[in-house]
Order: sequence, then structure tokens, then C-alpha cells
Amino acid sequence: MIKIHILRFIKGSRLIICSLFLVPTLSAQQFTFPERPNPHGGDDCSACHSTNGKPSKTNFQIASCSTCHSADAVNSHIHPLYHLNPASEIISMPENFKLDASGNASCLTCHEIRCKVDRANRTFLRDGPYSQELDFCYKCHDRELYARTNPHNQLLEDGSIDSDVCLYCHLKKPTPEDHPLISRQMHLGINETCNKCHALHRHENEHQGVNVVTSKKTSLRHIKRSEKRLNIKLPLSENNEIQCNTCHYIHGSFGIDQVHYGSSGENEHYLRVPNEKLCYACHEL
Ligand code: HEC
Ligand code: HEC
Ligand code: HEC
Ligand code: HEC
Ligand code: HEC
Ligand code: HEC
Ligand code: HEC
Ligand code: HEC
Repeated sequence: MIKIHILRFIKGSRLIICSLFLVPTLSAQQFTFPERPNPHGGDDCSACHSTNGKPSKTNFQIASCSTCHSADAVNSHIHPLYHLNPASEIISMPENFKLDASGNASCLTCHEIRCKVDRANRTFLRDGPYSQELDFCYKCHDRELYARTNPHNQLLEDGSIDSDVCLYCHLKKPTPEDHPLISRQMHLGINETCNKCHALHRHENEHQGVNVVTSKKTSLRHIKRSEKRLNIKLPLSENNEIQCNTCHYIHGSFGIDQVHYGSSGENEHYLRVPNEKLCYACHEL
């Protein structure tokens, strides 16, 4: 059953891949259309309320959100918005997380737009701030069920490799005989692979999709030197862009020889190296 859900999710993600070809100017990462004014916390109430009477709950216009933000980006990156089944047995939605009249998730299902910008909860997540993104997901999803589908746990109880789990990300089960190019083939691009189960994060906003060659903040030479010094890989996309797996090594314990542990003895957040070293791997002091 879980597989079916994931497949549905994958289908949603294909949308962005197609739209990438169709609308090359709007990057898949782009949640806000270029050069839109920021009305959050401003004086222009008409950005979201009709001018018919004083601003109130009743003259708030939900369609206004999508005049500035791309619903497609949200739909494919954060969570599918349409045809969700709120009665699903794997979901329990809190009362204040409401679907719209047609049973789809609307922006206000997850975002509580306030008149003032709240630094602690910049993305206006309902009932936020959350210390971890997944804590937000667990408002509706069952923490234990979700953790049970954790594809980063790749070992069975007897210590052997659980190869079914590989197919959450890989196109085929990698075997030791495969050429690395084959074993690295995913159903989707790397970022889409991760975004099947993880929403966008604030933490990679400065980084995701940035080309390290054209950026002035770092250089490919420095990164190559760091890879040698730390004995790690920092894989970039074909075009030298940063992606999720540049910083994260997502195989669980089976990839142990590639994972460098922090001083606490744990690989926190599946980072390739502990946080403080990771930053200097690219940023020069
Ligand atoms: C970014 C969009 C946005 C802007 C700009 C905005 N609002 Fe709102 N407003 C909302 C949303 C969303 C709601 C809640 C609708 C709901 O809960 O159904 C709301 C609700 C309200 C309510 C009803 C509150 C309640 O709890 O009943 C008032 C009053 C209000 N807005 C006043 C204003 C005023 C005054 C301005 C201009 C200074 C303004 N809003 C600008 C999005 C906006
Ligand atoms: C007039 C255009 C406009 C409208 C209407 C609008 N927004 Fe925004 N919104 C913006 C801009 C511009 C930003 C700042 C984006 C940035 O800094 O990257 C923003 C920021 C946000 C953010 C925070 C993202 C961040 O990077 O901090 C969220 C969430 C958001 N908007 C949701 C909504 C929702 C939900 C609605 C409808 C209730 C809405 N917006 C209506 C223009 C708009
Ligand atoms: C199922 C929940 C959910 C729904 C529905 C939803 N969002 Fe979000 N949204 C999120 C989460 C989670 C984040 C990421 C917050 C973070 O990175 O901390 C986010 C982030 C955003 C951002 C900021 C993206 C960035 O640049 O970092 C914008 C803008 C936004 N949402 C707008 C919308 C709009 C507009 C809608 C309606 C079309 C919508 N969202 C519907 C959960 C949702
Ligand atoms: C407002 C409630 C709500 C929130 C918040 C929410 N989801 Fe969902 N999610 C749903 C519903 C409803 C479904 C559809 C379940 C079904 O059809 O059985 C779903 C389905 C999914 C699926 C498809 C696979 C499955 O388990 O059914 C994934 C993956 C998923 N959500 C991830 C997330 C992530 C990651 C977050 C946090 C960023 C999140 N969700 C936040 C309501 C929510
Ligand atoms: C959560 C997604 C995910 C799962 C699940 C996963 N992989 Fe991977 N795998 C990746 C990514 C991403 C890469 C690309 C290389 C990297 O990140 O270093 C990769 C690369 C590889 C490679 C190429 C060598 C290398 O490290 O570059 C092998 C071999 C491999 N995976 C084996 C497996 C096996 C065996 C399983 C199942 C037990 C598995 N993977 C499960 C995401 C995953
Ligand atoms: C099939 C769903 C799925 C996919 C695909 C997936 N993850 Fe995860 N991920 C999970 C679950 C479930 C957890 C464990 C959450 C928990 O324990 O509460 C997790 C945990 C993590 C954590 C640790 C979170 C923490 O709190 O430290 C990181 C980092 C992470 N994933 C990164 C990635 C990256 C990068 C990719 C893509 C290469 C990816 N994941 C693909 C489901 C997924
Ligand atoms: C520039 C490096 C970098 C990139 C790129 C990056 N991450 Fe992270 N990630 C981190 C660091 C560092 C942390 C540790 C927590 C922190 O300091 O915010 C982290 C934490 C996390 C966590 C656990 C914390 C949480 O909020 O739940 C998840 C899940 C995660 N990343 C997933 C992803 C996914 C998915 C992508 C790609 C879309 C990605 N990361 C891209 C560096 C990165
Ligand atoms: C894979 C290389 C890489 C890693 C790892 C990395 N960065 Fe960056 N970072 C960059 C690049 C490239 C930019 C420039 C983005 C641009 O040009 O828009 C950047 C931009 C930034 C920015 C915003 C621009 C500025 O310098 O004012 C901050 C802040 C930042 N990084 C902090 C961090 C921190 C903290 C870490 C460790 C958790 C980290 N970076 C890890 C490559 C990296």
C-alpha cells in the first residue's frame, strides 16, 4: 500500500520535470514569481482582500496567493495539493488544518497568514514554529508509520541489506557489479527524489541549485581541495550545481565507510561531515 502512495507522489513530481522543459524561465525552485511586491505585513490590504468593504475573513480571496506564488511549485515540491484523501486511515488532521470545499489542500490548510511577519516562523506554518520540518508533517501524518517507511534504514534485523528499500530512490537495485553511473540512476532527479518525502527547507535556500563555478562565494578548486583533505565526495549536478546529496549522504549504516562521524559518534542529519566542517569545505575562511 505504501508503494502505491509513493508512486502517486512520484507522478506529481513528474509535473515539474515536464514544466521545466516547457517554461525554462521559471525554475522549478521558484515559489514566488519574479518582481512581485511583498504584501505580508504591509499596508496594501487589497493584495489579498477584495476592496468590497473592510478587510475581513469573508472578503479574503484565496486565489490571490497564486497570483504571486506558483501553486505548481508547491504542488510538486512541498506536497500534492489535489485529490488528497483526508479520510485516509494513515492521516489524522487537526481541526484547524482545514481542506477547501472540494476536498483539496489549500494554502491555508498549512499556512496561517498573519498580518505581521514572524521571524521565528517565517513560512507561516500553521501552529509553528517547529524545531524540525518533519514535526510539522506529523501534525497530520503518523510519526511511527512514517518512520517505518524510512528508506535510510537499509539493514534488516539480521544485518543483511534490505534491497527492497533501494527502489524508493534507485531505478534498479544496485549491485556491486554495476558501473557507478548505473548505480546512481534514480527514478527522478536527486532533489525530486528527496522532496518526495521531505519538503523544502529554509536551510538550503541559499544553496539549492547554486552553480559553484559561477558563484563568487566559492570555487571548484577549493571544493576539490576539501574533498581530498576530508576524504569525502561533495557530488554536484552535471552543471556543478549544489543539490541535496552534495551535503547529505543518505545511505544508512550500509554506506558506513563513506560516512564521517561527528565527535558525538553519530552522523547527525546524515551530513557528509559534521556541520562546522561542512561549511568550510566550500566557504573559505
Ligand atoms: C498576504 C495576504 C493578506 C494580506 C496582504 C492581508 N490579509 Fe487580512 N487576511 C488574510 C488571510 C489569509 C485571512 C484569514 C482568512 C481565513 O481565515 O479564512 C485574513 C483575515 C483578516 C481579518 C479577519 C480576522 C479574523 O480573525 O476574523 C481581518 C480583520 C484582516 N484580515 C485585516 C487585514 C488588513 C487590515 C490588511 C491590510 C493592512 C490585511 N488584512 C492584509 C490575508 C491577508
Ligand atoms: C502581491 C503578491 C503576494 C501575494 C498576494 C501573496 N504573497 Fe506570499 N510572498 C510574496 C513575496 C514577494 C514574498 C517574499 C518572498 C521571498 O522573500 O522570497 C512572500 C512570502 C511568502 C511566504 C514566506 C516565504 C519566505 O521565503 O519567507 C509564504 C509562506 C507565503 N508568502 C505564502 C502566501 C500565501 C499563503 C498567500 C495567500 C494568502 C500569499 N503568500 C499571498 C508575495 C505575495
Ligand atoms: C501540506 C502543507 C502545505 C500546503 C497545502 C501549502 N504549503 Fe506552502 N509550505 C509548506 C511547507 C512545509 C513549507 C516549507 C517550510 C520550510 O521550509 O520551513 C512551505 C513553504 C512555502 C513557501 C516558501 C517557499 C520558499 O521559498 O522557501 C511559499 C511561498 C509557500 N509555501 C506558499 C504556498 C502557497 C501559495 C500554497 C497554496 C497554493 C501553499 N504554500 C500550500 C507546506 C504547505
Ligand atoms: C494537512 C495535513 C497534512 C500535512 C500537514 C502533511 N500531509 Fe502529507 N498527506 C496528507 C494526506 C491527506 C495525504 C493522502 C493520504 C492518502 O491518500 O492515503 C498525504 C500524503 C502524503 C504522502 C504520500 C505517501 C503517503 O504516506 O500516503 C507523502 C510522502 C506525504 N504526504 C508527505 C508529507 C510531508 C513530507 C509533509 C510535511 C512537509 C506532509 N506530508 C504534511 C496530509 C498532510
Ligand atoms: C533515500 C534515497 C536512496 C535510497 C533509499 C538508496 N539510495 Fe543509493 N544512492 C542515493 C543517491 C542520492 C546516490 C548518489 C550518490 C551519492 O549521494 O553519493 C546513491 C548512490 C548509490 C550507489 C553508487 C555509489 C555511490 O555511493 O555513489 C550505490 C552502490 C548505491 N547507492 C546503493 C544503494 C543500495 C544497495 C540501496 C538499498 C539498500 C540504496 N542505495 C538505497 C540514494 C538512495
Ligand atoms: C520514501 C521517503 C523518503 C525519501 C525518498 C527520502 N527520505 Fe529522508 N527521511 C525519511 C524518513 C521517514 C526519515 C526519518 C524521520 C524520522 O525518523 O522521524 C528521514 C530522515 C532524513 C534525514 C534525517 C532527519 C533528521 O532529523 O536528522 C535527512 C537529513 C534526510 N532524511 C535526507 C534525505 C535526502 C537528502 C533524501 C534524498 C536523497 C531523502 N532524505 C529521501 C523519508 C524519506
Ligand atoms: C549546503 C548544504 C545542504 C544542502 C544543499 C541540503 N542540506 Fe539538508 N541539512 C544541512 C545541514 C547543515 C543540516 C543540519 C541542520 C541545520 O543546521 O539546519 C541539514 C538538515 C536536514 C534535515 C533534518 C532537519 C530538518 O529540518 O528536518 C533534512 C530532512 C534535510 N536536511 C534534507 C535536505 C533535503 C531534502 C535537501 C535538498 C532539497 C537538503 N537537505 C539540502 C545541509 C544541507
Ligand atoms: C557545496 C558547497 C557549499 C557548502 C557545503 C556550504 N555552502 Fe554556503 N554557499 C555556497 C555557495 C556557492 C554560495 C553562494 C550562493 C550564491 O552565489 O547565490 C553559498 C552561500 C551561503 C550563504 C549566503 C551568502 C553569503 O555568503 O552571505 C550563507 C550564509 C552560507 N552559504 C552559509 C553556509 C553554511 C553555514 C554552511 C554549512 C552548514 C554552508 N554555507 C555550506 C556553497 C556552499
